[in-house]
Amino acid sequence: MTNVSIAPCILVIFGGTGDLTHRKLIPALYNLKHQNWLPSRFAIVAVGRRDKTDEEYRNETRNSVKKHSRFEIDDNIWNNFCRQLFYKKLDFLNIDGYDELNAFLSGIDNEFGTEGNRAYYLATAPENFETIIKNLHISKMAVNTEKPWQRIVIEKPFGSSLSSARRLNKIISGVFSERNIYRIDHYLGKEMVQSIMGVRFFNTLFEPLWSNKYIDNIQISSCETIGIENRGEYYEKTGALGDMVQNHMLQILALLAMEPPNAFNAEAIRDEKVKVLSSIKEFTSYTTACDVVLGQYSEGEVEGRKVPGYRQENKVSPDSETETFTALKIEVDNPRWKGVPFYIRTGKRLAAKRTDIVIELKPSLYISNPVDSNIPNPVFSSAPGPNLLVIRIQPREELFIQFNTKRPGILEKICPVRMTYCQKCEICQAENNSPDAYEKLIIDVINGDSTLFTRWDEVEKSWAFIEKIKALKEAGKCCFSFYKPGTWGPEESEHLLERDGRHWWNL
Ligand code: BG6
Repeated sequence: MTNVSIAPCILVIFGGTGDLTHRKLIPALYNLKHQNWLPSRFAIVAVGRRDKTDEEYRNETRNSVKKHSRFEIDDNIWNNFCRQLFYKKLDFLNIDGYDELNAFLSGIDNEFGTEGNRAYYLATAPENFETIIKNLHISKMAVNTEKPWQRIVIEKPFGSSLSSARRLNKIISGVFSERNIYRIDHYLGKEMVQSIMGVRFFNTLFEPLWSNKYIDNIQISSCETIGIENRGEYYEKTGALGDMVQNHMLQILALLAMEPPNAFNAEAIRDEKVKVLSSIKEFTSYTTACDVVLGQYSEGEVEGRKVPGYRQENKVSPDSETETFTALKIEVDNPRWKGVPFYIRTGKRLAAKRTDIVIELKPSLYISNPVDSNIPNPVFSSAPGPNLLVIRIQPREELFIQFNTKRPGILEKICPVRMTYCQKCEICQAENNSPDAYEKLIIDVINGDSTLFTRWDEVEKSWAFIEKIKALKEAGKCCFSFYKPGTWGPEESEHLLERDGRHWWNL
């Protein structure tokens, strides 16, 4: 059991009865309790519009924990956890109840010794964010002092366009200073995404290779088998570009492409990520036609089940042109990456659930005959494939290197082999398995570490990039087609790489 000191505070969850709270936040908090990460000077207040007692709320969340936690419920731990878990009814869109909420929180401060420190977690529908922040401000529940501290945690999407993100940011930063704003991108809390920097910067084996000198291309794929799952209204506004690319995919790209930061702290790392986002070459009407592939799933079958097409989903327009798939060829226009394409791909209802990064190295100099490059190398009778470094983010957390060696036997043949590091197998076995992203992110908020949260300038740059594609799409300059569920997306996504003499690595 770990024994750590984390700051005393109250975590106030707006949207306490919502899906995110039930599926992710409460299970993550229970997991933290299970590992002894939650001190006694800590409480959770879930705020919701429905009427219910603490007891009712605790019973409901127990079911969610049972379903979604990575630990079995231990009655002793659960009972202790419940002593720190409260429910408060509040119509959070109406200023009238905020004084009462404030008084309630002060009572908890007295009982638990939480010293007035508060993390307000906005887990409501995004359209409520602005009103809640304004109400916190009016009721003087948001102070910008060091002691006590009060922080705001905002779930994605941060806006649904550049202008709405700017507007939201203006409202938040009128109330909280940037150091107290925690914009969540849960991918940054995933174990293998956090590993990217470790792998890049702390290995003589990889660090010298990390540029256009040795890397041929980088592929980032985040594929899902699920559809939009009753989120039609939200998804119609964002599409895959706003839902996945603006945040998760560009964040991964920034971590892979950034220069070494001059310190491993939140500001230095985020400074470097912003530079990458600023160096991404803008798409033009010419490049979108070739380098942007958008698609939408039609009806079909996934994992042996019949599934409706996107246009038949609840709250989706029957002639919707919203993309549920995106593949892009991105250029990072700086000396390190000139000439190295970053291919990114994400979509719903694809062949498998997986997120991975494939770094493909350039072919070995000795592939061809040193005397005549048209004749295969005489020493080995088979052509070797490229070296790959694969960082698999999910479902398995692993990293492997694919390299070439001589096939055992009399014939001089080369074959690709893999050397794999499996995170769960080697390190986390004794601790059940590795933490869920939300466990890490909640601890970081409480401890005031914003390294794994997106700063405003990152959000702004990413939205600017997405807006450009959306504008070109609206002008009919992007390729848009339908794809069958259970495939890897529209055929054009394959052509995107085939045109460059490459292919997606579906490893
Ligand atoms: C969310 C998107 O941010 O990420 C969802 O809104 C998507 O549409 C989800 O399904 C994927 O997250 P994960 O952790 O399951 O890869």
